[in-house]
Parts: sequence; C-alpha cells; structure tokens
Amino acid sequence: MQSAEKSSSRTSNRQKSTQKDESMIDYKINGRIITNELNTFFQNWKSPPSTETRSKLLTGSDLVITAREDGRLVGFLTAISDGAMHAFITLLEVLESHQNKGIGKHLMELAISNFKGYYDIVLITDPDKGEFYKKLGFREIYGMHIRDFTYGKDKK
Ligand SMILES: CC(C)(COP(=O)(O)OP(=O)(O)OC[C@H]1O[C@@H](n2cnc3c(N)ncnc32)[C@H](O)[C@@H]1OP(=O)(O)O)[C@@H](O)C(=O)NCCC(=O)NCCS
Repeated sequence: MQSAEKSSSRTSNRQKSTQKDESMIDYKINGRIITNELNTFFQNWKSPPSTETRSKLLTGSDLVITAREDGRLVGFLTAISDGAMHAFITLLEVLESHQNKGIGKHLMELAISNFKGYYDIVLITDPDKGEFYKKLGFREIYGMHIRDFTYGKDKK
C-alpha cells in the first residue's frame, strides 16, 4: 500500500550536451498517476500492458515515484515490497524526449533511499541497461523466473 505523498524538486545538473536542460522536475514519492498518463510510455515494448493492467499495477504497487515537468508526467518508477527486507523495482520509465537528463537516476536514488536498510533491492533488466544500474550500485546476481512470453498478445 502506498503511504503519504512526499515531494522534492531539483533542477537537472546534466548539461553535457549542447542543449542546456534547465527544466525543473518535480519528484513525488507516492505521487498519484492517472492511468491515461501512462499512454505515452512503454513505447518500445512488444506487448505493452493493457489499460486495465496499467490501472491495476498502479494501485497494486507499494511505491510509485513520479517525475513531472510543469505537471506533465515525464518519468515514473514502481516497486513492490514486504515492507521490511525485500523490495522489487518493477518499472522504471522515462519519456524518450526526457532521457539522458538524470531523471531515471534520480528516480532510482529516491527508491533506493526509500528502501534503505532492506536486505535486498532487486530488479530485472536487459543487458543494455546493465551499466545504468551498476552506476547506482547494483550488481549482477544469479536468479530464476517464469516469464509468460505470450503475455498481453491477445489483450487490448
Ligand atoms: C533506462 C532509463 C530509465 C534511463 O533513464 P535516463 O533518465 O535516460 O537516464 P539518466 O539520464 O538518469 O542516466 C544516468 C546515468 O546512466 C547512464 N545511462 C543511461 N541509460 C543508459 C544505458 N542504457 N546504458 C548505460 N548507461 C546509461 C547515463 O549516461 C548517465 O551516466 P552519467 O551519470 O555517468 O552521466 C531510460 O532510458 C528509459 O526509460 N528507457 C526506456 C525504458 C527502460 O528501458 N526502462 C528500464 C527497464 S529495466
């Protein structure tokens, strides 16, 4: 279950590219997301979650962190946890237009800080995202899972 909303704002300090990014991003721990706000995410997914699934995953997550620019959702993170020992970061998505500006990193830092003192914070990712997570202190482990590769195929 999500608890009270906490908010923080910070200006991105990422100014390596020629385009300066001075935009103020508002981060909220346990920020609210309206299901339709997720329509612009999951762009490169083969089987993006249906509207019904998006709604369920938002209400079923123990932690939702939002990143908003002028009110618009530009990134978010969801996680589930047992509240004491284990946390699983389930989704991290930043709009393509807002990637490489430090938003994903800050969402992760807020989640890690939220689960401080836990035995394990885990996530599943693709090999090409490994370096992103290693910079945040994550290490590769041996793991097992069951994945339904037909997931979402015949759903809206
Ligand atoms: C992966 C993702 C969340 C990264 O968010 P982002 O806001 O673009 O990343 P940041 O700007 O915070 O990057 C932080 C650091 O990680 C690096 N980084 C970002 N994406 C990376 C990648 N795919 N591989 C290696 N390094 C990466 C950045 O260069 C930066 O390094 P620096 O601090 O040394 O300058 C974002 O690209 C995304 O939403 N992708 C699509 C969805 C997805 O793949 N989600 C993860 C599923 S597990």
